[in-house]
Amino acid sequence: MKKKSKFSGSFGFVLAAAGSAVGVGNIWRFPYLAAKDGGGLFLIVYLALVLTFGFTLLTTDVAIGRRTHEHALRAFGAMKKKWAFLGVLTFLVPAIIMTYYTVIGGWVSKYFVTYLTGQGGAAAEDGYFTSFITAPVAPVVFMLIFLAVTAFVVYQGVEKGIERFSRIVMPALFVLIIGIAVFSLTLKVSDGDAVRTGLQGLQVYLVPNLEGLTPGRFLGILVDAMSQIFFSLSVSMGIMITYGSYVKKDVNLGQSLSRIEFFDTFVALLAGMMIIPAVYVFSGMEGMSAGPGLMFISMPKVFQAMGPVGAFIGLAFFLMVIFATLTSSVSILETLVANCMDIFHVDRKKMCLAITLISAAAAVVICLGYNVLYFEVDLPSGAVNQQLLDVVDYISNSVLMPFISLLTCLFVGWVMKPKWIVEEMEVSGHSFGRKKIYTVMIRYITPLMMLILFFQSTGVFRFLKSLFAKA
Ligand code: PHE
Repeated sequence: MKKKSKFSGSFGFVLAAAGSAVGVGNIWRFPYLAAKDGGGLFLIVYLALVLTFGFTLLTTDVAIGRRTHEHALRAFGAMKKKWAFLGVLTFLVPAIIMTYYTVIGGWVSKYFVTYLTGQGGAAAEDGYFTSFITAPVAPVVFMLIFLAVTAFVVYQGVEKGIERFSRIVMPALFVLIIGIAVFSLTLKVSDGDAVRTGLQGLQVYLVPNLEGLTPGRFLGILVDAMSQIFFSLSVSMGIMITYGSYVKKDVNLGQSLSRIEFFDTFVALLAGMMIIPAVYVFSGMEGMSAGPGLMFISMPKVFQAMGPVGAFIGLAFFLMVIFATLTSSVSILETLVANCMDIFHVDRKKMCLAITLISAAAAVVICLGYNVLYFEVDLPSGAVNQQLLDVVDYISNSVLMPFISLLTCLFVGWVMKPKWIVEEMEVSGHSFGRKKIYTVMIRYITPLMMLILFFQSTGVFRFLKSLFAKA
């Protein structure tokens, strides 16, 4: 089948790709990591890594897509027959993520409706989140609504659906997040004699905290920043390969990629500016938890503490999160649909319906993970008492993604050679400014970093440590 879908130009591509990149990872994971890993210290490490390692992975994915004109399932095989298996492995990641991303999207939608109907007070009460996600029906209903909107966008196609949607939603997201971040900085609360202000909170966020810094802890910060960049830039999951295959040959890829990196990082930084001062002012740093706890438990308490204006800020906040989550889930569904259209030779509309139905069924199972199928396990990464959603997330993000990146770097760096990518970056007649860094990164540094990340997340380091401890 001839692929005709394309983004209209560079701007549409940048917004759609930034839409994929900007998601819950920016909002609920980045601020938490910054708070935990020494504020400004984490920010410096993160920025340095985005510009080197994040840039390398993003460039590789997008250039593979545009050069081969294929989606992940076929792209690697088209480059070298023997490497076709890497396409299959890469395809597995969005397939797995799709099962739970819409569940989280459903949770966000529920909170949006809660604030819309003026019930923000209830959301701030203890146990609200847990009783919602463990309920038998409500999480499924909200997940289905969220999935339906996602499917509607993908159903319309690349230019009319994804691009048009991103053009409306992404600017709205920026305006909302900037507005809330500025508001956050003006907060002030007096607690007995002590006064806590948003600007003090900003200091906690921006000033590097070197207390208790050891080489081991620094390695921990590096690993945190690396795994965050992966998830945040939506790389190594075939999504950026698919979006790359929709970019026209005359687009200056280097410039577009810099913009995507910039947007994703900028939104993450703003999310930190919005969340850390607010949490600091109203709850001290204890409210800074990882994952759902931050967004669904701490933030409603912060909005409650703001008084009447909190109801509006809460509404704006969850609207912004819905936008961020929707554009990401659109990119996941699009990748699945586009890959499957290739294999099954079915048109977009039918394929979109079929995959939506399968995803809905899988997402119902994930929802049941909080009631009927409830369990608690400890993961090799060190996380304890985890549920089904966390286990699935662990498999895709902590095991598969670093492994895929490792193989992709070895394949591109040593089998295809960096020149293969550089040629694609320059095919539009623009020079590829970061050619040298790219070449060194893809061949030597990134594979090594991926290996470390893979060992860390699969518990190999922990295992070795325990062996040494015994010896
Ligand atoms: N990059 C998105 C984020 O930061 C997450 C995402 C994961 C998007 C997988 C698409 C696919 O939240």
